[in-house]
Amino acid sequence: MKITIRLAALLLAATVLPVSAQDDSLAGERLYQENCASCHGANLEGQPDWRSRLPNGRLPAPPHDASGHTWHHTDRVLLDIVKRGTAAIVGNGYESDMPGFKEVLTDEEITAIIDYIKNTWPDRIRASQESRTLADEQVQP
Ligand code: HEC
Repeated sequence: MKITIRLAALLLAATVLPVSAQDDSLAGERLYQENCASCHGANLEGQPDWRSRLPNGRLPAPPHDASGHTWHHTDRVLLDIVKRGTAAIVGNGYESDMPGFKEVLTDEEITAIIDYIKNTWPDRIRASQESRTLADEQVQP
């Protein structure tokens, strides 16, 4: 009897865990579509001609897929950009259309969005961003 219960618990854990992990990435995707897709594109493709400045001198929204440079940033920097917005990070009166989301999204929600973005990258790109993040965590306690 005891064994049956233990087996049932194991089976339950095995089925429940992957589902909750899946929920996280679905939440990240939903939050991305609600908060970011209007500028960065429904398929993370960014705004057209994103390398050229707009007539007002500001930069368009870059893609978040592997063709952009989101993966050049460590986790710490990505969270900071999304929380505070680009103008606050660059300073010196720099103007940017990238807003800060710290009043709108929790750190967990922002992390879920970033995880969703990372999951669309090829393994090689994901590994490269991960090693930059690890190196950064070694210098920044
Ligand atoms: C109103 C348009 C707009 C919205 C909405 C928006 N962004 Fe941005 N985002 C931009 C622009 C424009 C830039 C480039 C800013 C610059 O370099 O001046 C940018 C830059 C970024 C960068 C830096 C990328 C890089 O390659 O350096 C990240 C990360 C980012 N956005 C994430 C997000 C996330 C996550 C969301 C949703 C929570 C979001 N953005 C919503 C316009 C937007």
